[in-house]
Amino acid sequence: MTHSTDPILVIEGLRKEFGRVTALEGINILLDKPGVYGFLGPNGAGKTTTFKLICGLLRPTSGRVVVGGSDVRFEPQEAVAKLGVQFDAPAYYPYLTGRENLQVFDRWLGRQSENKIDDLLRLVGLVDAQDRRVGGYSWGMKQRLGLAAALLSDPALMLLDEPTNGLDPGGIADVRRLLPKLAYEQGRTILLSSHRMEEVEQICDAVTIIHQGRIVASGTPAELAAGDAEIVIRCSDPAAARGVLSHMAGIREITQVGPGRLKIHAPELAASAVNKYLVESGVAVEEVTQRRESLEEAFFRLTGAQNHD
Ligand SMILES: Nc1ncnc2c1ncn2[C@@H]1O[C@H](COP(=O)(O)OP(=O)(O)OP(=O)(O)O)[C@@H](O)[C@H]1O
Ligand SMILES: [Mg+2]
Repeated sequence: MTHSTDPILVIEGLRKEFGRVTALEGINILLDKPGVYGFLGPNGAGKTTTFKLICGLLRPTSGRVVVGGSDVRFEPQEAVAKLGVQFDAPAYYPYLTGRENLQVFDRWLGRQSENKIDDLLRLVGLVDAQDRRVGGYSWGMKQRLGLAAALLSDPALMLLDEPTNGLDPGGIADVRRLLPKLAYEQGRTILLSSHRMEEVEQICDAVTIIHQGRIVASGTPAELAAGDAEIVIRCSDPAAARGVLSHMAGIREITQVGPGRLKIHAPELAASAVNKYLVESGVAVEEVTQRRESLEEAFFRLTGAQNHD
């Protein structure tokens, strides 16, 4: 039974094994407000597997997924009716045009709504290419068509698996403009997986970071990054500064990063407090700077993944 008060997505204790490989373990996710939510993780983390479990393409080893009050396992049709999904490499009929592909999908949904198809083609920027065969579409055009297809059923929940993968800068900008519109003007909940940290940082209200099949952190980008603020001080006598700071509460780690520079890991302290403590202890400080971690740095710290850039 679906109530309007049911959260759009509840994932509880989700586990998935493929033979001896445990792809997901103890995944819990609750989305109960429209918005844009990020699902971040390195290759093989379990993002696509989670999406497949949400839409019932895979069966969980244990745990459950409930979409808008409908358990995906026991009421798959009701659950899927609330879902729009875009996977990384969508399958199309290559010999049909973009518009015809949408018409086919629309008929599968049991309707024929040409106006809606017009709106969607406009929304994703494919009006000019709508009558060309999809076999001749570029990767980015296929991605755009996938987004239009995901919207055909007017879904409350959208799962987008790396929606900007392979798009040119213009296409990425289009998607970044489009997603907030779908969320805040149309009231949809969007869960998107991505490797692009700066993108997730810009457009997502909250982020879940998954690594080796487990959730390692979730929160707003600011919350995730705030846990690890760093203070860097420049002074003429770093040894003295270090000695003084070793007595200060709240300092977790001090590392010398240059001839007169110390990096201080003190997540709960303001830079001004560190400065004051040093000055009052008779250590002259030339410069104090506080630097917040970017979501990208938080991601590498939390997942231990390597930055290949
Ligand atoms: N059908 C399958 N059979 C066996 N193992 C699988 C299958 N599908 C996924 N896996 C394994 O599950 C783990 C998670 O894979 P998944 O595709 O969900 O990762 P991902 O986070 O989407 O990665 P990527 O960023 O590369 O897309 C991997 O170890 C993968 O090898
Ligand atoms: Mg994937």
